[in-house]
Amino acid sequence: MKINGTPTRTIWLAADGWAVEIIDQTRLPHELVNVRLESLADAAHAIKAMLVRGAPLIGATAAYGMALAARANSSDLALTVAYNILHTTRPTAINLKWALDQMIAALGKVPEEHRMAAAYARAAEICDEDVAINSAIGDNGAALIRAAWESARARGADRVNVLTHCNAGWLATVDWGTAIAPIYKAHDAGIPVHVWVDETRPRNQGASLTARELNWHGVPHTVIADNSGGHLMQHGMVDLCIVGTDRVTRNGDVCNKIGTYLKALAAKDNAVPFHVALPSPTIDWSVADGITEIPIEERDAAEQTHMTGKAADGSIVSVQVTPDGSPAGNWGFDVTPARLVSGLITERGVCAASPEGLLGLFPERNG
Ligand code: MRU
Repeated sequence: MKINGTPTRTIWLAADGWAVEIIDQTRLPHELVNVRLESLADAAHAIKAMLVRGAPLIGATAAYGMALAARANSSDLALTVAYNILHTTRPTAINLKWALDQMIAALGKVPEEHRMAAAYARAAEICDEDVAINSAIGDNGAALIRAAWESARARGADRVNVLTHCNAGWLATVDWGTAIAPIYKAHDAGIPVHVWVDETRPRNQGASLTARELNWHGVPHTVIADNSGGHLMQHGMVDLCIVGTDRVTRNGDVCNKIGTYLKALAAKDNAVPFHVALPSPTIDWSVADGITEIPIEERDAAEQTHMTGKAADGSIVSVQVTPDGSPAGNWGFDVTPARLVSGLITERGVCAASPEGLLGLFPERNG
């Protein structure tokens, strides 16, 4: 997507051809700062500290982390150590393991002296594949927005309202995004789409990242408190919800940013379609039940007790919002059972959130 007219991805190879550059997402929305990754440790830190985040971008960064590791030492032992270091950075997004497994599969095939080149080549391919997948998700999801717009227009509405949670836009991927890709495609096709952006406490990925990118692209949107969605749905102000995901089980359960489940419950109660956009590397075919089998990341309580923002003088400050001494809990994700999901938007089309639905689109996984 473009920032001030310049086509931009979230991760790219530096001009020297070996270091990797990323946008430091902890500095958004107020500052646009690029960071250079020169080592396995830099890549692991970028993922863990959430300079990069969003399941597909975590995977892409891990892939380049393996390339940086291979540049330093491409022995079997060094690559196994690198795999383990990167794998433990964030536990929930399955794209991380998917990308690391892809890298090991690619490197295992070549002699040690060619592994570095093979690693950079496969990491670049993973990035390009992500962009193509997300563009296709955008096309498939835009058809749903168009249908919702046509029925809203028939009722006399002048826009179609989509609610989203967290950030599953281009900043969460290499480009396009997953949940937001259909919104970009619909907007660019002239459909009057308006987005309700859940702020997404505690880290505010909606308020700081989704709003930032919709603002860059000129998509009408309104940032709302996380607790507003149910009220808006009761009053007919949401035509459909589209969210992203960090892991979908083979049964169609959806793990995504904490608070997604509550939006799905409200959507069900109000007969608002609740769609989930996902690239195929986000499907964990080894897992059936999302609630009991997906590890849920627990992060530092300081993310809950404190908030960061821009002060009146333009400086970026962090403030404590809880009383001294009050403990806080910080679960990063929750699981929305398949029964609450209206449809899964993938690069191959839209399917039911069920084993049959997923296998219908991915028959090679049968048996
Ligand atoms: O903790 P984050 O910011 O990495 O969480 C991101 C999300 O929950 C996204 O919805 C998900 O990764 C899908 S990104 C296309």
